[in-house]
Amino acid sequence: MAKTKTAYFCQQCGYESAKWLGRCPSCGEWNTFVEELVSKEPAANGANFFSQEKAAARRIDQIAFEQQPRLNIENEEVNRLLGGGLVLGSLVLIGGEPGIGKSTLSLQLALHAPSLKTLYVSGEESAQQIKMRADRLKGDGSNCYILSETNLENIFTQAQQLKPQFMVVDSIQTLFTNRAESSAGSVSQIRECAAQLLKFAKQTGIPVFIIGHITKDGSIAGPKVLEHIVDVVLQFEGDGNHAYRLLRSIKNRFGSTAEIGIFEMQNSGLREVSNPSEILITQHDEALSGIAVAAMLDGIRPFLIETQALVSTAAYGTPQRSTTGFDVRRMNMLLAVLEKRAGFKLAVKDVFLNMAGGLKVVDPAVDLAVAVAILSSNFDLAVPSRYAFAAELGLSGEIRPVARVEQRIAEAEKLGFEKIFLSKYHKGIPKTKHIALIPIGKIDELTREVFRS
Ligand code: TYD
Ligand code: MG
Repeated sequence: MAKTKTAYFCQQCGYESAKWLGRCPSCGEWNTFVEELVSKEPAANGANFFSQEKAAARRIDQIAFEQQPRLNIENEEVNRLLGGGLVLGSLVLIGGEPGIGKSTLSLQLALHAPSLKTLYVSGEESAQQIKMRADRLKGDGSNCYILSETNLENIFTQAQQLKPQFMVVDSIQTLFTNRAESSAGSVSQIRECAAQLLKFAKQTGIPVFIIGHITKDGSIAGPKVLEHIVDVVLQFEGDGNHAYRLLRSIKNRFGSTAEIGIFEMQNSGLREVSNPSEILITQHDEALSGIAVAAMLDGIRPFLIETQALVSTAAYGTPQRSTTGFDVRRMNMLLAVLEKRAGFKLAVKDVFLNMAGGLKVVDPAVDLAVAVAILSSNFDLAVPSRYAFAAELGLSGEIRPVARVEQRIAEAEKLGFEKIFLSKYHKGIPKTKHIALIPIGKIDELTREVFRS
């Protein structure tokens, strides 16, 4: 029997303390300490089968440069997000709210890569349930193995027999290892399991995806420590009422974190969306007021998104302001700029703003499109549908330049837009063939240019 002792762990950040504390000294959260059993000695039943190699220090120029071998997992969006494929021996964490599609995505990755021998381990669903899901996702399952198990040692034994090329563990919160004696999902279990999975991945070279649930405040449940241990953290997000899902890279030891992957949840699983602009812009025959198209970036990915505004006279004393997918304080600021710098009387109006597709937009370059959509609705004048906007609005009403404007222009040009409105302070923008660049300096010039016809 292993010698055991107990310690108190903060369930937010994993801070360990010998006694109970009301407030965590590390993350400052209140009432998060829970007593857990910890075993100081490794459990005897075969848990310690990893060899312990001693490393020696070497001078950096004596270390041969090896290109990290990467595995193509046959999903364009995920490959790109990981920086060009999955690095052998890497540990990838996918976080996301319940029901967002983490299990679907990872099972789909395992199923739709027939050239790879894959192992999907689930601690949440039975083999039958997984089979049902796999039927929906179609795909060739001839090289995909399923294991319904929660004991980590057993998972390792199975994996060592099977020798898969890619392994998924759904979810870290359901696993338990014999080396820690508290219940599954507790901080010490999660930490120990993640550390062992890391060792497993590094020693066998098998890339491992682990799925982690997310708490209400958006952090990956269990300790922050999980994010430090793994090589890559991917966050799966989206609005439950919409079909679009964004897979965002928050940390990547082998590539950039600026990439995002876009998917659409369908009846037969997640579809890769390679051209997001087409779904974020609705095609209407007649010109409608209150709509303007912004050329935005998420990370380094440009796409065009429709912003919709509704401005109406406030029925009651205090005007209402509400937004979906956009910061309401930022909209209030834009309204104040329009009022003060361009003389539009918006203080007594209700203003509602909506970003298409349920996306949350933080790129300041959508400012101009938001302002135009508001004015368009206010005057009930439609913006020509082939106009796009990409600029930030300053407090004094000046139209400010934005990052990576060439990419935005190229995206708008690709989609057949006729004009794109930009700040006149951009320098050295290359000439374009099919799209006219309209430089604007101040907000009052804008209305003349946009609503001229
Ligand atoms: P799931 O992958 O189980 O989420 P998580 O593992 O993140 O908790 O999410 C599944 C949701 O997606 C579920 O509500 C049903 C829906 N769904 C589809 O729309 N199409 C499909 O093909 C599948 C498998 C699920
Ligand atoms: Mg799941």
